Order: sequence, then structure tokens, then C-alpha cells
Amino acid sequence: MTKLNIVYASEMGTAMDVADKTEAIAKDKGVDVVQFGMDSVSMDELKTMSKLMIITSTTGDGDLPMMGENFWNELSESDLDLSSIEYSVCALGDSSHHEFCGAGKKVDGRLLELGAKKILDMHECDGDTEGSEEWATLAMDKLGVLPN
Ligand SMILES: Cc1cc2nc3c(=O)[nH]c(=O)nc-3n(C[C@H](O)[C@H](O)[C@H](O)COP(=O)(O)O)c2cc1C
Repeated sequence: MTKLNIVYASEMGTAMDVADKTEAIAKDKGVDVVQFGMDSVSMDELKTMSKLMIITSTTGDGDLPMMGENFWNELSESDLDLSSIEYSVCALGDSSHHEFCGAGKKVDGRLLELGAKKILDMHECDGDTEGSEEWATLAMDKLGVLPN
């Protein structure tokens, strides 16, 4: 079974809760899953994550949470070939802000530019976590990480 990697960035804890819930759903389904804080993931490690779920909130003005800043700086400057990655993003934000779900949009766009394959459109949570569990279940199915 191929390992599922959950990479999250959170400022106040909501995206972390979504990551924990996603991990719990995966374990419940018998998926081989590992969760990483975004600040602990190097570009070399990222390249090996063939099945990837990214969960990030947005802070500032469309910015990544502090724990995702280095990751974003490296990803945006990188010219890595990420064509071995299949992924989907769950973005948390609030549409009262100008750059709605800006962090998720940045990461999603950059992964695509570097050749990663988007297996499911980004899910956007507006002021809450609605739809994130459905996103998680569907993404696991599309990533092909569910045991037979
Ligand atoms: C200081 C601050 C700045 C924010 N900036 C944005 C933003 O630019 N775009 C957006 O969509 N949401 C923005 N949000 C909303 C958060 O992304 C949203 O509340 C999210 O659920 C928080 O998740 P977290 O607890 O994991 O950080 C901001 C929230 C705060 C407190």
C-alpha cells in the first residue's frame, strides 16, 4: 500500500484540527498515513511524497501561516520536477478577506507548475471547516491509497 502524506500549516489551530481529523479518517480506513507540519518538510522529502494531501489556512494578506513560510519560499523558488506527486489541497480561509484562501491557491498553483498531478480540485473552507471531511474521503479515494 502506498503511503499517504498529510502536510499541514496552521496559525491558530483550525487547519491542524482538519489535518488531525483527516489522519483519523485515513487510519479508520486502514490507510498507511503520516502527518507532517509544513515547517518540517524539505524539498527533497516533498519530492518523495507520491501521494500528498495539503491542508493550509491563510493568514496576513493571502500568506502562508508562519509554520509554512520556509516551505513556501523554497517551493516558490524551486525548479524541482514534481511529476511523481499526486495531490489535492484543502484551503482554509475567510471570504471577508481580499485574498480568499490565498495560501492554498499559491501552493496549489505552484505544485501544478512544477508538474505535480492534481487528482481533485482544491476544496475551499470559508470561515469554518465545512466540506473538509468529504474532501478528505474523496481525495483518498482518488489518490488510490485505500486498501482493497
Ligand atoms: C490575522 C488574520 C489574517 C487572515 N487573512 C486571511 C486572508 O488573507 N485570506 C483568507 O481567506 N483568510 C484569512 N484569514 C482567515 C483564516 O484563514 C481562517 O480563519 C482559518 O480558518 C484559520 O485557520 P487556522 O486556525 O488554522 O490558522 C485570516 C485570519 C486572521 C486571524
